[in-house]
Amino acid sequence: MSSIFLDTLNKKKTHRPPVWFMRQAGRILPSYKKLKLSHSFDNLMKNKELASKVTLMPIEDLGVDAAILFSDILIIPESIGMKLEFTDNGPKFHNPLTADNINSLTFDSSKLDHVYSNIQEVKVNNSTIPLIGFCGGPLTTFLFMFRGNEKDKSFNNALKFFYSNRKESIYLLEMLTDASIEYVRGQADSGIDCFQLFETYCGIIPSELYKKIVLPLSTRILNAAREKNIPTIFFPKNFNEGLKYINKDICDFVSIDWNLSLDYARDIVDKQVGIQGNMNPRLFYSSYDDIDAYLESLLNFGEKNSDWIFNLGHGFLPDIDYVKVKHVVKWVKESNWNRI
Ligand code: CP3
Repeated sequence: MSSIFLDTLNKKKTHRPPVWFMRQAGRILPSYKKLKLSHSFDNLMKNKELASKVTLMPIEDLGVDAAILFSDILIIPESIGMKLEFTDNGPKFHNPLTADNINSLTFDSSKLDHVYSNIQEVKVNNSTIPLIGFCGGPLTTFLFMFRGNEKDKSFNNALKFFYSNRKESIYLLEMLTDASIEYVRGQADSGIDCFQLFETYCGIIPSELYKKIVLPLSTRILNAAREKNIPTIFFPKNFNEGLKYINKDICDFVSIDWNLSLDYARDIVDKQVGIQGNMNPRLFYSSYDDIDAYLESLLNFGEKNSDWIFNLGHGFLPDIDYVKVKHVVKWVKESNWNRI
């Protein structure tokens, strides 16, 4: 497969950065919103024709250089016995974890089979566009499992448990890691071309603590993909100065959130690791002039750094105008990056 996205991941020099967006499958696309009128989220994820259709929508509708599988990070908790429902207000667990039920979980790998057939279906429908598989980082997944109220954004129950039951927490994080490793291997065997680990709530604990307890587990998941020759992207959101610990033994690329500048991130991350990011998704609420001024400010970084993937600093918000997104994709693709 010839692809500017895969070339960049493989550290080949290209004439421009490749572009894709976190949360590009679904959410902002009119064609997805239309489909959502007649199908639930769960329905779309568990039917291979529909999941493949949504996965490939941003290729047509936005013109991005890679597809990300339409699925969710909370599939792993579901596979170890948690009862998950996607409500209009977000995902809800009907049996959130407490100190009393933590030992009742067991991994049933067959609950992930539908994801593998979705991957195969995407590959049948389009064999020329690279497909990104993913799962949630151990900490992010852990946090959601303690949440019974889908509106609660504090994760207080999970954090209280984490600080007061360290041994049990590590047991659970390791269990999530083992399930995720099997999941990554299954995704690789089904045909993904790249793997991203979403550790969206990395910054909820101090970076030193994340480094000590969780980073070795995240590294194991990422390395399971690499052992199958799948390049990896790690997204440790709000890791801040912890980025200095990211090196080539952990991942191939690291995705930077919008709190840091690309130049600063490039400075502190191991030079052998590429960078992805980091447009603030809220910039899409601004005028075209402001968006263009931001894009122009990236030309210098893009000229010097061929190991850079254009993306957001976090996923799209649902009310972003997809026409502005199309404009950004076109701009990235058509600008002169002065590279070759
Ligand atoms: O990037 C993509 O487009 C691929 C698919 C994808 C989804 N979720 C689909 C989805 C990916 C990569 C995710 C990751 C995910 N899911 C994360 C980590 C990244 C991040 O953005 O923070 C987290 C924390 C979740 C858990 C989750 N799933 C939440 C909190 C919600 C509700 C609020 C929201 O973000 O939409 C979901 C539901 C969800 N996952 C939707 C989609 C398209 C919305 C469902 C709908 O359309 O009604």
